[in-house]
Amino acid sequence: MRMSVIGCGYLGAVHAASMAKLGHEVVGVDVDTAKVEALASGRAPFYEPGLPELLGETSATGRLRFTTDLAEVAGSRVHFVCVGTPQKRGEFGADMVFVDAAFDALLPFVQPGDVVVGKSTVPVGTAERLAERLAPTGATLVWNPEFLREGFAVQDTLHPDRLVYGLPTGDNAVPTEAGEAAKAVLDEVYATPLAEGAPLVVTDYATAQLVKVAANSFLATKISFINAMAELCEATGADVTRLADAIGYDDRIGRRFLNAGLGFGGGCLPKDIRAFMARAGELGVDQALSFLREVDSINMRRRVRMVDLAREVCDGSIVGRRVAVLGAAFKPDSDDVRDSPALSVAAQMQLQGAYVTVTDPQAVENARAKWPDLKFAESALEAAQDADVVLLATEWREFRELDPEVLGEVVAGRRILDGRNVLDPVRWRAAGWTYRALGRP
Ligand code: UDX
Repeated sequence: MRMSVIGCGYLGAVHAASMAKLGHEVVGVDVDTAKVEALASGRAPFYEPGLPELLGETSATGRLRFTTDLAEVAGSRVHFVCVGTPQKRGEFGADMVFVDAAFDALLPFVQPGDVVVGKSTVPVGTAERLAERLAPTGATLVWNPEFLREGFAVQDTLHPDRLVYGLPTGDNAVPTEAGEAAKAVLDEVYATPLAEGAPLVVTDYATAQLVKVAANSFLATKISFINAMAELCEATGADVTRLADAIGYDDRIGRRFLNAGLGFGGGCLPKDIRAFMARAGELGVDQALSFLREVDSINMRRRVRMVDLAREVCDGSIVGRRVAVLGAAFKPDSDDVRDSPALSVAAQMQLQGAYVTVTDPQAVENARAKWPDLKFAESALEAAQDADVVLLATEWREFRELDPEVLGEVVAGRRILDGRNVLDPVRWRAAGWTYRALGRP
């Protein structure tokens, strides 16, 4: 099937390549010339495991191309809208300029019977508004949120754990005829192997839009819950990692997303919970989500606590102390530095008078662009040269596997802060390190 993907960021680029892998003929469109040039020559414009291989394989088939010219979407039967919805400057709400601009540009090329598929994360109510604008074209809007995680984007797109279709519904809440027809088109798009084994939830627009923000709010809440427990552990001498193991054995709770540490960052969870709170306020139900404000503050408190911990291990002051920060990306296997806890702690320590050097296997370039005042190094050993304190802030495998003896050779003082609770305290202490972590004795 011929289809277009508007917006080629983490979501769109992976989606476009995945659709071509399924055998479709895909054109990806983005306003960013550099991004389009990279993708068109088979290169991934950001670090995402498996994407270069997927792009290489699908570009070679001739079924996948990228362009900045939106007119090239003409002739596509399905149009995926995958543009970003960042947090507005100075407020909590999501900025819809990219979604609206994509829609404006797309409308003249849409034909009767086409299906426009919204995949961006949007404030509930957006789909209804866009569907009204689309109505005169005779095309149908389906809201089909995407749940991919960075670092696992290819796997999550090709093997989703569920599919959600939000369809236009009539007065009795059943899909309209046009909705059923659009569903059949999308079923064909996602036909095996993508949809194999993935439960399909068919619902209305509002539910489909809410599913995405509800899922991300739940995940953020789970992380902040365990980080709140970490605060209790710190006050009592308990160990949050053992606590998480023990409560996680209960199937109803589950161990995943109970890793205490520096908390969540990235381009999704922080801005999604904030946009959700803002939307709830507009809908007059802000009380329903007031707990998310607490989820947000627990999360931000971890960053402050880490700076305090650095001060504690440096006998009360980090002024003039050398700190090596291992990690710049908001999570491992990504070069994304948006709202990265690692960088926000690094910047805060620098502001408070420490000499900070940051390293990351993939994210240094992005980090330097956003934080030009920070100093960067090529490796953990280089960053840790003469350091008084080493902070593990992003749990890349190469940092998790660091040898305390080897690292101990280059530092000025053997002090390690484990911001992700991934190191073995016994091993590090046996090598003469002062080991401190969030939520561990
Ligand atoms: C998230 C959702 O998981 C995904 O479904 C959605 O589509 C987009 O948002 P992503 O932002 O890629 O994906 O990262 P995720 O793996 O969810 O991690 C988010 C943040 O939480 C990271 O900063 C991570 O370090 C942190 N985290 C995660 C924890 O602090 N503890 C945990 O136990 C898990």
